[in-house]
Amino acid sequence: MKKSVRKAVIAGNWKMNNTPAQTTALINEMKPLVADADCEVVLCVPFVDVPAAVEAAKGSNIKIGAENVHFKDNGAYTGEVSADMLLALGVEYVVIGHSERRTYFGETDQTVNLRTLKALEKGLKPIVCVGETLEQRELGYTETLLKFQTKMALTNVTADQLKNVIIAYEPVWAIGTGVTATDDQADEGNGFVRAAIAEAYGAEAAEGVTVQYGGSMNAKNADELVDKVNVDGGLIGGASLKAPDFATIVKAASK
Ligand code: 13P
Repeated sequence: MKKSVRKAVIAGNWKMNNTPAQTTALINEMKPLVADADCEVVLCVPFVDVPAAVEAAKGSNIKIGAENVHFKDNGAYTGEVSADMLLALGVEYVVIGHSERRTYFGETDQTVNLRTLKALEKGLKPIVCVGETLEQRELGYTETLLKFQTKMALTNVTADQLKNVIIAYEPVWAIGTGVTATDDQADEGNGFVRAAIAEAYGAEAAEGVTVQYGGSMNAKNADELVDKVNVDGGLIGGASLKAPDFATIVKAASK
């Protein structure tokens, strides 16, 4: 990462794991291990775990995020959660457009854009996920796809709002598979994302945007990944469920 212009962000994405009691225990275990971090430390947790997470993280350097947010203020949207509800609980970040939501829950580039706009309007920091499938990569569409998803997600986002946006490049084939992108593949993918932002907002604005890598990032490979100039931290799934592993990744990004 380029420390002169960007701060690394290490964010855990717990997905559908941990009860509130487990949340309290895990964050209490993590707190002392990440206290010296020289990067932003975020845990994105299931909605029902947010109160326990905010309470446990109080007074520490751990920020709490959610895993989704709806694009309307309120109304007849059964099962959905609004930005105001999250803000009222102390949430600061929100994952938007994760590939699991795109694959299993009908998330589209349009709804990703709407959720991103709502999050920014309300003052939540979106962590917007983009990434190609293995088939798209093998067909040679990685750059086109990443640029398209990035630009679609940022439609109508102002240059000022862009400063609060994090993009996470998560190759779908690397998520939960144990197959990590090589550090060069991660750097290249993140570079495509940054190039798309530069095309839309100019090179200087793009240089300031945090672009994370996500996909089987772990305690063993984090050092090499965050060493790459375009990799400004990570969005961590499985390894964020184990305090020592997560702390090792935070340490790698703090160097
Ligand atoms: P894994 O780290 O478990 O591969 O998950 C990555 C991810 O999807 C983070 O959002």
